[in-house]
Amino acid sequence: MEKTTKKMLSTLKGIPSETPPVWLMRQAGRYLPEYLATRAKAGSFLDLCYHPELATEVTLQPIRRFGFDASILFSDILVVPHALGQDLSFAENHGPQLGPLPHDLQFDATDFHKRLEPVYQAVESIRAGLEEEGFSGTALIGFSGAPWTLACYMIDRKGSKDFAATRLMALADEEKFTNLIALLVTAISSYLIKQIERGAEIVQIFDSWAGVLPPSQFFKWVIEPTRKIVETVRAACPETPIIGFPKGAGVLYQNYASLTGVTALGIDTQMPVTWVRDVLQPSVIVQGNLDPFTLASGSPALLKEADMILSTLGDRPFVFNLGHGIDKSTPPEHVKRLVDHIRGYRS
Ligand code: CP3
Repeated sequence: MEKTTKKMLSTLKGIPSETPPVWLMRQAGRYLPEYLATRAKAGSFLDLCYHPELATEVTLQPIRRFGFDASILFSDILVVPHALGQDLSFAENHGPQLGPLPHDLQFDATDFHKRLEPVYQAVESIRAGLEEEGFSGTALIGFSGAPWTLACYMIDRKGSKDFAATRLMALADEEKFTNLIALLVTAISSYLIKQIERGAEIVQIFDSWAGVLPPSQFFKWVIEPTRKIVETVRAACPETPIIGFPKGAGVLYQNYASLTGVTALGIDTQMPVTWVRDVLQPSVIVQGNLDPFTLASGSPALLKEADMILSTLGDRPFVFNLGHGIDKSTPPEHVKRLVDHIRGYRS
């Protein structure tokens, strides 16, 4: 009963609405002063991720301000390597830093889920909080990094332009790399299913570094592992929509959509919306793809770009979002302006 009132869920079932649902990647983050205050209270970013109550608080902050149609679990994709036993830290303004890849890396389901229990508790408490605070129309998205992107961080051990160490290992020691990807497929599928069991209504798979691979390897390390995850999650939770976000996939978005079986596709900023309309939209629901810096600038281009996206993609079931996470320089008023504009579109 409650489900039918959530615009995000009906859109992902293929039902178009007057104006599209809207949420923004990284909507809970450093552009909000209340986020910075809660992070300070938690101690560090990672402490915040593992504190169910404070993670709930920061998840709800942007919903209170902007009334988005979806909330996204506050966590990070790197809690998965962390729960598999790899050290992880986030130095202020330096991004993530991982420890050496454990030699005896194994997936022990009991141990893995025990370590991630605070994340599952956050999922439960966000669902409850949305109801309590009267946001019963806001859906909850759970997420994971995809195997390729997690492997990039696990092997290169920090952010990189090209993830050279990972690229080389995938080619030079294919057997070892194949085993790592297989382990990640198992862990990620299990992680997503658990999030759904605890209250996530949608899941999104972030493959942020899909774009560094040439086509043959894109099929092997992006499409095939994601297809297996979709198959496993769908077998356990057939009703739950799955959004895939293979950032930088270019024309391979088309292959990714048809071969992985995701419900919807997150589109990055580089994709021309007319191509998305003509090539992707006939067979898959799309989400995207405003440039985060156009939003941050708040220039006249903001509403113009938003209108272009709405008029090109809005005739079919569509979710308005950015093409990448919101930048920390973004004034919250610009977000409000954008959301009001989308809600008033056509009226
Ligand atoms: O979207 C949301 O609001 C949900 C929370 C979320 C975060 N990270 C919080 C976060 C999600 C879905 C992610 C995903 C994530 N994390 C990705 C995939 C999406 C993408 O951006 O490509 C990746 C690659 C990561 C790994 C990661 N986490 C990096 C590289 C960094 C440092 C870069 C940066 O923006 O500082 C993080 C840190 C991080 N994750 C922050 C937040 C709010 C900033 C940490 C802080 O508060 O200082």
